[in-house]
Amino acid sequence: MNNLIIKNIKSLIQTEEQHIPYVAGSDMAKLPVINNAWLEVKDGLIKDYGSMSDFSAQQFARDAEVIDASDRLVLPAWCDSHTHLVYPKSRDVEYVDKIKGLSYEEIAARGGGILNSAKLMQTASEDQLFEDAMQRLQEIIRWGTGAVEIKSGYGLTLESELKMLRVIRRLKEASPLTIKSSFLGAHSIPMEYRGKQEEYVDLVINEMLPAVAKEDLADYVDVFCDVGFFTVEDTDRILNAAAKYGLTPKIHANELDYSGGIQVGVQHNALSVDHLEFTGDDEIKALLNSGTMPTILPGAAFFLNMAYAPARKMMDAGLPVALASDFNPGSSPSGNMQLIMSMGSVLYRMLPEEVINAVTKNTAYAMGIDKELGSIMKGKKANLVITKPIPGIEYLPYAYGENKVETTILNGVIIK
Ligand code: NIG
Ligand code: FE
Repeated sequence: MNNLIIKNIKSLIQTEEQHIPYVAGSDMAKLPVINNAWLEVKDGLIKDYGSMSDFSAQQFARDAEVIDASDRLVLPAWCDSHTHLVYPKSRDVEYVDKIKGLSYEEIAARGGGILNSAKLMQTASEDQLFEDAMQRLQEIIRWGTGAVEIKSGYGLTLESELKMLRVIRRLKEASPLTIKSSFLGAHSIPMEYRGKQEEYVDLVINEMLPAVAKEDLADYVDVFCDVGFFTVEDTDRILNAAAKYGLTPKIHANELDYSGGIQVGVQHNALSVDHLEFTGDDEIKALLNSGTMPTILPGAAFFLNMAYAPARKMMDAGLPVALASDFNPGSSPSGNMQLIMSMGSVLYRMLPEEVINAVTKNTAYAMGIDKELGSIMKGKKANLVITKPIPGIEYLPYAYGENKVETTILNGVIIK
């Protein structure tokens, strides 16, 4: 494996001497930086880093490739802890319905939305799903993503849920990205189960979960706990059943109302609760001192033109905040984490330091990979971005629309 030395780095961002799982509250505005730095990569891992004043070329392997990063920043590659990027087709028609004024619930109620994707999923071929998703992965790598969580949930039948998860398993094998998978059988209630949704929950618990566990297809379990979707009771039942298979929850909560999703997630020690547009004092209280990462998905709130989660209030209360893309065909058709950073700062008034923490350290925690990714630390995986020549970290959220990433390095290898 070839080794890399990156030298003359204008600023090396998010350095970490000792592992801390995530950053919360006022610490989110702090970002450890070494100006005029070098970094050494060996065997796919970060071997060492330091200040150029201590740099001596002799100490490095002779065959190492040397990259001059003058005027450029080096950061840990983004971790995107919430996506649905395996899907059959875009849903641009619904988008026009939305512009005309139909709500998310109205579109869902007439069989659109998630059910629309689920219908297409039944006949989609595994190979086509894989190829399309691989394209999307190539695209997000170019925007600087180094790790991504991908959910099932457009199958909603045993066969199609397994098909999606098998595609994700193939992506894990074929892509240089670090990938985690979540089983989201409880994403929407199929039409034939309307009015008797507990029977669909039975199907998820008695047939889907055991099959998913048998093939070891999921790292996590997810439920869309919200009005018009799954209730707190449904969620509780599914998470209890999933716990028997050792599946930790990461759930969709409080996107459409004060659904109780946050509280039930915390009760089940969810790794994260995601969306959180409807977060009040009770929800904040439940999250404080829990191990559950509050994760905001600005792309979905922007695209659906809905309320924004109270990010500042959450951080002021001492909570951590993570930001993920929610890349999916219905509510957030983009996996561009740089755009998410801009939305985090413009729409949620988060500082550049806060958004960088929110898309690196905190999302790494939210996908259970904080020990291997999310910061520049000796021994962590060398998933890095080198920016174009840019003035400083402020430019990252500021210049929305522009790709500020020049080079993405995954497992110590420059991705062309
Ligand atoms: O995270 N909120 C639930 N699920 C997705 C939407 C998926 C879709 O509309 O296809 C989300 O936004
Ligand atoms: Fe989602």
